Amino acid sequence: MKKLIAGNWKMNGSLVANELLVSELLAGIKLAGGAPACDVAVCVPTPYLAQLTGLINRPFLSQKDDIAGKNTARSAIELGAQDISAQASGAYTGEVSGGMLKDFGVRYAIVGHSERRAYHGESSQTVALKTKAALAAGITPIVCVGETLAEREAGQTEAVVKRQLAAVIHDNGHCISEIVVAYEPVWAIGTGKTATPEQAQQVHAVLRAQLNAASSAAKQRVRILYGGSMNAQNAKELLAQPDIDGGLIGGASLKAADFLKIIAAAGE
Ligand code: PGA
Repeated sequence: MKKLIAGNWKMNGSLVANELLVSELLAGIKLAGGAPACDVAVCVPTPYLAQLTGLINRPFLSQKDDIAGKNTARSAIELGAQDISAQASGAYTGEVSGGMLKDFGVRYAIVGHSERRAYHGESSQTVALKTKAALAAGITPIVCVGETLAEREAGQTEAVVKRQLAAVIHDNGHCISEIVVAYEPVWAIGTGKTATPEQAQQVHAVLRAQLNAASSAAKQRVRILYGGSMNAQNAKELLAQPDIDGGLIGGASLKAADFLKIIAAAGE
């Protein structure tokens, strides 16, 4: 299974900073041979999607294509959003639909990130509906699950992540093989604390078994990413675990050198 390294920029960036970061990433990828061994994506704040579509595709266009305004060449970096509406259109102030994201070449959408569950009251039911909306729009949802520190200490880790994933499986049964899952222990996000490779692998194996039981197609297809302070130093060991198929990276995705090292680690 080809690994996926996805950056989650969260609410960071500016027109100037994004241009610098993406040009450094593309230069680094080119220097390393131009075609990373893993899939690479950046999930950016909504207002910057149009800018990013231009930035990630431009260097791969020939001058002739550029003049003709074609935008068909595939970049080494794919575009992701950080959220998606459960609705297709209508009176939903502030929301952004899958169709709109698709207009800007979005390939992935993070769904149910713990920050949205905690600060925006997103329930597992909402997460399941957003997953469904993404799939309907032809966007791959990156469905996040993970336990809090209190839940881990109470021995509830497996029960919590299984319950979160079960809601998504329940509503998306037949197309569950089209999703990406991200295990993100809440206590490891942005804290510098990382799950040990063994702790992460243990939960990934549980999620893998749950996916396999839901769909035989999921076995070969569904990538389970680890997220929670993955960085240039620990990526290699985490990515070497049998059920860790990539990473969802916050802080370290904002520094080109670090993100490039994680991309390289995924190819080893
Ligand atoms: P972090 O964030 O890498 O900064 O811990 C990961 C995430 O929230 O997706």
